[in-house]
Amino acid sequence: MEKRQIYHPLTVLYRALNPNETASGFPVSNLVTCMAEPRRGLRMATHVVTGAFGYTGKYITERLLAAGQTVRTLTNSPDRANPFGERVAVHPFNFDKPDELAASLEGAEVLYNTYWVRFNHRLFTHAEAVRNTLTLFEAAKRAGVLRIVHTSITNPSEGSPLEYFRGKAVLERALRESGMSHAILRPTVIFGKEDILVNNIAWTLRRFPVFGVFGAGNYRLQPIHVEDFADLAVAQAGRTEDTTIDAIGPETFTYRELAMAIGAIIGCPRPVVSVPKWFGYGAGWVIGKWTGDVTITRDEIEGLMADLLYTGSPPAGKTHLTEWTREHADTLGKRYASEVARRVDRRSGYGSL
Ligand SMILES: NC(=O)c1ccc[n+]([C@@H]2O[C@H](COP(=O)([O-])OP(=O)(O)OC[C@H]3O[C@@H](n4cnc5c(N)ncnc54)[C@H](OP(=O)(O)O)[C@@H]3O)[C@@H](O)[C@H]2O)c1
Repeated sequence: MEKRQIYHPLTVLYRALNPNETASGFPVSNLVTCMAEPRRGLRMATHVVTGAFGYTGKYITERLLAAGQTVRTLTNSPDRANPFGERVAVHPFNFDKPDELAASLEGAEVLYNTYWVRFNHRLFTHAEAVRNTLTLFEAAKRAGVLRIVHTSITNPSEGSPLEYFRGKAVLERALRESGMSHAILRPTVIFGKEDILVNNIAWTLRRFPVFGVFGAGNYRLQPIHVEDFADLAVAQAGRTEDTTIDAIGPETFTYRELAMAIGAIIGCPRPVVSVPKWFGYGAGWVIGKWTGDVTITRDEIEGLMADLLYTGSPPAGKTHLTEWTREHADTLGKRYASEVARRVDRRSGYGSL
């Protein structure tokens, strides 16, 4: 009788999404707990995605569901409008109830962690996000999750004066020391339909006669498209080796070049002028008061100006921001995208916030 090779479901998923690659993925022998049932064929895997109704988590979920996988989400926003309906099982984060958190991860092969907070606010802090993420890693380990695909940031450092980059570095180390199989993805700016930064640059260009850059504006960014990022995350789920990848796109811009390119493409070419960072921060603060948001923080300006959104790595994404902007020139920046609104309104989809 012909002996059939049985592969782990993640290998099947990986191959479906990466037809040109010959990676061996997960042979079933490596992961005994995921063994296929001999008579009924392959058992599909269960994936837990944080924030499946948010931004990156939504695109990761889309791919997994399209590949026939089972998806659960951990979220603060169970009632948020989403395109998946009943197809995604919803669980609260339960950071303060670690047993319940571990129970919601039972039986899952992969955890995709996108959870983080963008800045310190009266409603949330980086310190809390670090604590909660450590609780999440611990719960995943107890629940027997086989692999974690974790979202970090370019150039994290435990010695950084910026809490965002420092907290991300602490979490990377915790994951490496946890002994769990993992992939750490370090994106710069992630652009796409529900993005905030690129959208709000376009929004500003549409409304004001000049665009101010902090200082010389010569610090660099390498934006990656959200779909490329999601492809990378799902591909990494099917690997076994521990890895850290700079998730950057194929184009590098200085901040000044980025503003000029977006302005030209959306039909709002503006003079791009250098302003002192205190002035740029002040202008952002005023826009934030007007829109009810925190438009940009001092730390974000410092991070940008320290070139922390730039790496020397090869691109991991293929979509060019300039081409994507051309395709979305009619809509990009027509409405302001608000981080605070997304945290306060837990029902509307990100596309309208
Ligand atoms: N977006 C970018 O340009 C960018 C750039 C570099 C790195 N990253 C990293 O990519 C990851 C995903 O980012 P994203 O933009 O896709 O995030 P997102 O979908 O808006 O949020 C991801 C998850 O974090 C939760 N969350 C976000 N802010 C929170 C807050 N203030 N308090 C409590 N929970 C909060 C969300 O809650 P809900 O479940 O309620 O939605 C969701 O579960 C993050 O780790 C981020 O650091 C993003």
